[in-house]
Amino acid sequence: MINLRSSRVHWATRVGAAGILTLGLMASLGLGQASAARTAPGAPSCSPTVSRQAFGSAFDLYAGKKLPVFRYTLANCTGMRVKVLTYGGIVQSIQVPGRNGREADVVLGFKTLQDYVTKASPAVLANGGPYFGETIGRYGNRIAKGTFQLDGHTYTLPINNGVNDLHGGLVGFGNHVWASREVRAAGAAGVQLKLVSPNGDDGANVGCSCTGFPGRLTVFVTFTLNNAGQLRIHYRATTNKDTVLNLTNHSYFNLAGEASGATYNQKVQINANTYTPTDTTQIPTGAIVPVKGTPFDFRTPHTIGSRINEDNQQLLIAQGYDHNWVLNKTGPTLGGLRLAAHAWDPASGRELTVWTDQPGVQFYTGNFLNGTLVGISGHIYRQSDAYTFETQHYPNSPNQSNFPTTELKPGQVFNSSTIFQFSS
Ligand code: GLA
Repeated sequence: MINLRSSRVHWATRVGAAGILTLGLMASLGLGQASAARTAPGAPSCSPTVSRQAFGSAFDLYAGKKLPVFRYTLANCTGMRVKVLTYGGIVQSIQVPGRNGREADVVLGFKTLQDYVTKASPAVLANGGPYFGETIGRYGNRIAKGTFQLDGHTYTLPINNGVNDLHGGLVGFGNHVWASREVRAAGAAGVQLKLVSPNGDDGANVGCSCTGFPGRLTVFVTFTLNNAGQLRIHYRATTNKDTVLNLTNHSYFNLAGEASGATYNQKVQINANTYTPTDTTQIPTGAIVPVKGTPFDFRTPHTIGSRINEDNQQLLIAQGYDHNWVLNKTGPTLGGLRLAAHAWDPASGRELTVWTDQPGVQFYTGNFLNGTLVGISGHIYRQSDAYTFETQHYPNSPNQSNFPTTELKPGQVFNSSTIFQFSS
């Protein structure tokens, strides 16, 4: 069991201080934030803001032409700024103050739209691209051999990662231009993005002689920021035909700052007693295995580097951590979301707490960053320079009947939230 009180006493205090009752109430408002800001007595009231600027234009496969792209800046009253692109639903940057107010951008990103379109394109990078900050769909992570059965039909997808389909195939949600509108809720501001993925997407329309995903899928992703340092990502999806779905966000975090190099000294805690080991192509074997006694045991805090070089077959397959942890259903909650993970950088004092309603989280330590990409501030990104917490359903669920289902049927509404909460 994760023991928050003994490991990070002030974290438990903070969660409590944010006010669980308020959280639940506000979260039930849909767009609402999970926590109200605490304003110092006598301080002027201040609300988060959202603003929009043009960010060039990009070709969109669904539209068949170039579309204008916008960048939304979400700012709160404690010095956080989050930039979200309508291209790919990408979180481009998250500025977070550290100790003594020193700011850092805590996610990896590119500077220009062109960088995202070319350098991040699966067609350009043999290893599948980094997916920096992208909204991933239709299916986050891998589907074995790019095939699955549903309602007696066999569906086939592009093979873009070894022998498997990864992150939605050749042109995933992170490569599309989304429609957008500003949103404002009590104590929060943000942007809502919308994408309509056609029946058969990632099939013939991407030049693949495969069926693609069934059903026309309408997806809304809403990013909101509040004064409690919470970036909430809410997903809503509906379909007109039975389909499978696994939406996530692929932000790479480095709490010391995106240009600060290896994250080996940052500490991580994951609220999971078990994980899903994989075969050599990174497809889960189907087993759900206790983390106890392995380098995958993050029930108590460990630095990322403390066990990553151990002679362990799973670490060898993935060249580090790149696995799905099965989240515990117990532990602290925030507005109905469960604790998934906690990370912090002892040097800067910055912390990240991840809350979700998803059953799993892919903790990935940037193993495939190989020094070939130049980031937003002009520094090269290398292996272990950042890590992801991709809240999700387990990889390859459509082919694993013992994993929670990822099926979505007409008439059902997929609703899910993840909160990345920053503090220092
Ligand atoms: C996920 C996968 C990794 C890798 C990255 C993107 O985290 O599990 O194996 O493909 O995306 O580079």
